[in-house]
Amino acid sequence: MLVSAKEMLQKAKAGKYAVGQFNINNLEWTKAILLTAQEMNSPVILGVSEGAGKYMTGYKTVVGMVNGMLEELKITVPVALHLDHGSYEGCYKCIEAGFSSIMFDGSHYPIEENIAKTTELVKVCAEKGLSLEAEVGSIGGEEDGVVGMGECADPNECKAIADLGVTMLAAGIGNIHGKYPANWKGLSFETLAAVQEKTGEMPLVLHGGTGIPEDMIKKAISLGVAKINVNTECQLSFAEATRKYIEAGKDLEGKGFDPRKLLNPGFEAIKATVKEKMELFGSVNKA
Ligand code: 13P
Repeated sequence: MLVSAKEMLQKAKAGKYAVGQFNINNLEWTKAILLTAQEMNSPVILGVSEGAGKYMTGYKTVVGMVNGMLEELKITVPVALHLDHGSYEGCYKCIEAGFSSIMFDGSHYPIEENIAKTTELVKVCAEKGLSLEAEVGSIGGEEDGVVGMGECADPNECKAIADLGVTMLAAGIGNIHGKYPANWKGLSFETLAAVQEKTGEMPLVLHGGTGIPEDMIKKAISLGVAKINVNTECQLSFAEATRKYIEAGKDLEGKGFDPRKLLNPGFEAIKATVKEKMELFGSVNKA
């Protein structure tokens, strides 16, 4: 059964580790992440962007697929199904479809509007027992056509949003979606420390988990980050493994044209990436 992300993130914050959010795109992705979480005895959050939701034909399909897999694969570790960077309308669609967690990304609205819309969603999520992630200070880079400038969050605005009763808070601290440019200045730990001081127990979320050096990940966790989002790294490892397999001509040999065989190297590559991240984030055996 899907669970809200609340309990797993509160435990992570208290235990000084982070739960990984891994974004899904299809059946292979979902299966790879769920099986790895079970093998690692780790809680996990499946992230679904609005674009990926559309690709998978809609949120109801996603909920059906994930619930089916939890049962058929006998997954017993805590799993949350989470809308990633949701629009206000998208949040309601996911709540209705059966997601157990949503992110409302109101970072591009003026802070007053972000507060008003987040307040509404806090109420709805509380009634239904869902976890809610809010964002302050946009995350840099581009994801599904949403372009963020990557500014650092204002700690006072973070406090204002945290006080509304959200479950977890994503604060921009110089993090970027996708690959980091060579001239990236690194995470702003000064901002993170100030946000953590103002928001106390609130589990903080680090987006753009791909390509952040290990020491920075560990420092971010020590400063209150309890959830780390990874998307591009799974995409890169999937693409590389699948491309290599096809280039080796194996897809044309024997039964290699079988789509299940063709996608298998990518599936295994995602499993390896997820395992590596769970070890780095410290969530192994924390289910
Ligand atoms: P990356 O694609 O950089 O891993 O970021 C993922 C993310 O933050 C999803 O919200």
